[in-house]
Amino acid sequence: MAKGKNILGLDIGSSAVKICLMKQGRKGLSLVTFDHHPLPPEAIVDGALMDSGSVVDAISQVLKRNKVRIKETALSVSGHSVIIKKIPLPLMTDDELEQSIQWEAEQYIPFDINDVYIDVEVLSRDQSQGQMDVLLVAARRSVIDDYLVVARQAGLEPRVVDVDAFCLQNMFEVNYGIAEEQTIVLLDIGAGTININVVSDGITTFTRDISMGGNQFTEEIQKQLNITYEEAETYKRGGDATDAVIPHEVEKVIQQVSESVAGEIQRSLDFYAATTADSGISRIYLSGGTGSIPSLGRIISRTSGVPVELINPFRNIVVDDGRFNPDFLESVGPLAAVSVGLALRRTNEL
Ligand SMILES: Nc1ncnc2c1ncn2[C@@H]1O[C@H](COP(=O)(O)OP(=O)(O)OP(=O)(O)O)[C@@H](O)[C@H]1O
Ligand SMILES: [Mg+2]
Repeated sequence: MAKGKNILGLDIGSSAVKICLMKQGRKGLSLVTFDHHPLPPEAIVDGALMDSGSVVDAISQVLKRNKVRIKETALSVSGHSVIIKKIPLPLMTDDELEQSIQWEAEQYIPFDINDVYIDVEVLSRDQSQGQMDVLLVAARRSVIDDYLVVARQAGLEPRVVDVDAFCLQNMFEVNYGIAEEQTIVLLDIGAGTININVVSDGITTFTRDISMGGNQFTEEIQKQLNITYEEAETYKRGGDATDAVIPHEVEKVIQQVSESVAGEIQRSLDFYAATTADSGISRIYLSGGTGSIPSLGRIISRTSGVPVELINPFRNIVVDDGRFNPDFLESVGPLAAVSVGLALRRTNEL
C-alpha cells in the first residue's frame, strides 16, 4: 500500500451528504468515521448545486457531529456534467498526448472545450497497429467549481476531484480484488442518478449515467397511494407498516418502478453489448441507497440474465464493533460505496 495519509472522502449526493475516513494500520485499512446527513429535495438537481447553503450546512453538521478534524478532502461528481469515454488515438508518447488531448477531445465532448476540465488515462498501447486506447474524462468547470466552493465554505480543503464511477471501481478493488478476465458491472442506484460502470479485466470500458433512481419510487408511491412524499419515503423503506393493505400496495408500485428501472439499465447494457466483442457480463454489483430495495436487484437480475449481488463496501475494511453498530453499517453499506472509494485516496497522490 502506498505511503501517505488517508484523506476524508466526501460524497455530495443529491439526497444526502456522506463522509468516510479510514486509516492504514497494521491489520490493514480500518474505518475511522462513516456518517451521512440528508439534504432537502431539489438542493442538487442532475448533479448541479441549486441550493449551496443547504449543502454547506449539511456538510458542516455531519463534520461537527463526528468531530472530524482532518481538512484534506476528496470529492466526486457525476451526472450529465461528466463525460467518460474510451477513445482510440494514433500511438503517441505521454508528453505528446498531453499536448494534443485538448484538441483530440473536442470532437468527443458536447460542451465547449474551454468550459471543461480534462483528464486522460492510457488504457493500452498497440505497437503493431500504431494505435492506443485512452480513457477521456471531461467535467464541466462550472459544476466542479461549485462543489469546491461548498466544500471550502464548510471548512474543508478539497485536494482531489474524482468521478463516482472511478470511486466505485476503487472501492470494488479493495474489497473484492480485480475481476481478472471477466467483465463485471458496477451499478450505483442513488436518489436521482443511476451510474453504470462496465469493468473488463479491471479496466473501465463503458460508463453511462441515467437520470433515474430512488426518487421515482417515492414519487410513484406518493401518487398511487395519494399520500405525502415523506410518508411515501417511509413506506418505500418498509417502515410504518401498521395497515396490512399498504405494504401490499407499496410492493406493487415498487415492482412496477423496478421493471422500468431495470428496462432502462438493460438498454445501456444492450448498447454496450452491441459495441463490443466482449463475451458477456459475469456479475452485476449493486450499490447506492436504492440498491437496498430487495425486489429491485431480483428484477434487474431477471431482466439481464446476470446474477446481481449487493456490494459490501466494508468487506475488507477493519471495523471496530465497539465503535460502529454492525446493523448501522449493514444498513448504510450500499449508500456508502462512493464515499469509501473517495476515502481510499491518499495525500501522496495529490
Ligand atoms: N432502506 C432503503 N430502502 C429503499 N430505499 C432506500 C433505503 N435507504 C435509502 N434509500 C433510498 O436511496 C436513495 C439515496 O441513496 P444514495 O445516498 O445512494 O443517493 P445519493 O447519492 O444521495 O443520490 P445520487 O447519487 O442519485 O445523487 C434515496 O432515494 C433513498 O430513498
Ligand atoms: Mg450518489
